[in-house]
Amino acid sequence: MRSLSTALTIADLKARARRRVPKMFFDYADSGAWTEGTYRANEADFAAIKLRQRVLVDMTGRSLQSEMIGERVAMPVAIAPTGMTGMQHADGEMLGARAAEAFGVPFTLSTMSICSIEDVASVTKRPFWFQLYVMRDRDFVRNLIGRAKAAGCSALVLTLDLQILGQRHKDLRNGLSAPPKWTPKHAWQVATRPLWAMEMLGTKRRSFGNIVGHAKNVSDLSSLSSWTAEQFDPKLSWDDVAWIKREWGGKLILKGILDSEDARAAADTGADAIIVSNHGGRQLDGARSSISMLPRIVDAVGDRIEVHLDGGIRSGQDVLKALALGAKGTYIGRPFLYGLGAGGQDGVTRALEIIRTELDVTMALCGRRDVRDIDRSILDEG
Ligand code: GLV
Repeated sequence: MRSLSTALTIADLKARARRRVPKMFFDYADSGAWTEGTYRANEADFAAIKLRQRVLVDMTGRSLQSEMIGERVAMPVAIAPTGMTGMQHADGEMLGARAAEAFGVPFTLSTMSICSIEDVASVTKRPFWFQLYVMRDRDFVRNLIGRAKAAGCSALVLTLDLQILGQRHKDLRNGLSAPPKWTPKHAWQVATRPLWAMEMLGTKRRSFGNIVGHAKNVSDLSSLSSWTAEQFDPKLSWDDVAWIKREWGGKLILKGILDSEDARAAADTGADAIIVSNHGGRQLDGARSSISMLPRIVDAVGDRIEVHLDGGIRSGQDVLKALALGAKGTYIGRPFLYGLGAGGQDGVTRALEIIRTELDVTMALCGRRDVRDIDRSILDEG
């Protein structure tokens, strides 16, 4: 394998991941709902934002350190919760959490992960964050919250925008499942990715670790996919958010806010942060990009709640632009998955390094030294 240090951009990692990960799982990451218009807009709208070039400003002693929900972070970039991460690479969530810990950024584990909460806790020393999907079976939800507490998770990230799954055509066409089915098509996809397959044979974690063996009547995955469709609670309401907040009792982040009215309601709950997000364009196709909604949402909530952003971040420049428009922190989902698919833990580290370098150099060339001082004045707003 070519050294990861020759990957200079997230796009380089994506190209390598495409060569190493079976198509159905690579496509699962690289997909949006329906026309994928919102997925594309997330990236395109970042590219349209222009920066002001400044010169003859002292660039020494720069710092990217900041805080997200009161936790110190090496840079304001957390790993987003992503489903089926352990299918991009064997034991993917454990490797991602270790890379994030070593780098000094938060790692968020998805409810729909392959490695379980306990698996990730067993390989990390610092607390990670846990993302919660709310199922109709409230005992199971209570149990998940209890497991996240027992594992020492320091924040609960409650996803609000996926009570019904947006349709991603690629997943339907690929017949996505974890583990893959043994049809000739699926066997071919796996056989043509021998390194992935060998590593996957070396782990026992090939199904949804937080669910199988914990939720009632779910012992294998064929029942799990229908169970997921049946079990996500389409009646989730602001009252449930209050209940979850009480049940959890710790730092709470509300993910999936894309509307000013919802942002104000989220601030009213007393949660610690919101994530401006359209689920990476995977849910409501036709919604605006996350970055285009950020200024309105920041205006709507003022300093009542910390505002974070995900969706479309492919570089440190994008991180800087989000900070300039008022985000206190950002999340990377696909860049993380591409790094993981390209090279396991080292690949995730490489993705973080790429973003750090781009963030640092861009900040310097905009004439700034401290990431905490970034504001709209670094943008050329025409
Ligand atoms: C799950 O969160 C997904 O978007 O697939």
